[in-house]
Amino acid sequence: MTDHQETATVPAAREAGGTPIVVVDDVHHSFGSGAQAVHALRGVSFEVRRGELTALKGRSGSGKTTLLNLVGGLDTPTSGRISVDGTDLATLGEPDLLALRRDRIGFVFQSFGLIPVLTAAENVGVPMRLRRMPAKEREERARTLLALVGLADHAEQRPGELSGGQQQRVAVARALANDPDLIIADEPTGQLDSETGRSIMELLRAVVRSESVTILVATHDPNLIELADRVVELRDGRLVERPPAP
Ligand SMILES: Nc1ncnc2c1ncn2[C@@H]1O[C@H](COP(=O)(O)OP(=O)(O)OP(=O)(O)O)[C@@H](O)[C@H]1O
Ligand SMILES: [Mg+2]
Repeated sequence: MTDHQETATVPAAREAGGTPIVVVDDVHHSFGSGAQAVHALRGVSFEVRRGELTALKGRSGSGKTTLLNLVGGLDTPTSGRISVDGTDLATLGEPDLLALRRDRIGFVFQSFGLIPVLTAAENVGVPMRLRRMPAKEREERARTLLALVGLADHAEQRPGELSGGQQQRVAVARALANDPDLIIADEPTGQLDSETGRSIMELLRAVVRSESVTILVATHDPNLIELADRVVELRDGRLVERPPAP
């Protein structure tokens, strides 16, 4: 093999990872009005690049959840523009926003958000059910995803019969169900002990590569921040950008 062959693939890989999947442009967001108004975001602009794990850090109350909710189309900014995969969210009506959230974005929350009466496999199947995927196909994909997150032997257990870390693995599998372009995670390790949290981070890190998904994750956790390709920091509703870790 020559040196030339070894370097030939590098530019293509960089290109694929370099295009933005999320563009946030001068976003302001307030809750309430008049003297009572809380200005949660005060002019935030940044991009999330495709194929990367971007960590959004900042103190409690700095606006992380507010920003994730806007990017996920769960709320509409007071002003400014957000686009996901080239589509300006402001141009979408509720049915299209719903379809975007269902088909293109996976969500992972601090409190796992699993349905207690459903088994792990059924929980993973929920987003596919919403998309009316046939039962057999759905069950097969749920099993594949549970195997991917290391829970092949736990498919029939309900959330109450799983540890916190296992529940969060189910939630990650569910977020991957519809093969999303983007996963939005809000403090996914916040309720886990540090070792379990570490394994969830490593899982997120791994799926960015294996499932070619992009992840935007809000976190206080220094270990998770260390694993990110890029870190953006919010302070009192404004952004402080940092260079990636060496
Ligand atoms: N629904 C709401 N109504 C009024 N104020 C809100 C609402 N949601 C958030 N806020 C306020 O907006 C600001 C940003 O809150 P946000 O939840 O985005 O912070 P955060 O960075 O996610 O904090 P944490 O790390 O504690 O989760 C806070 O001052 C909060 O009190
Ligand atoms: Mg929050």
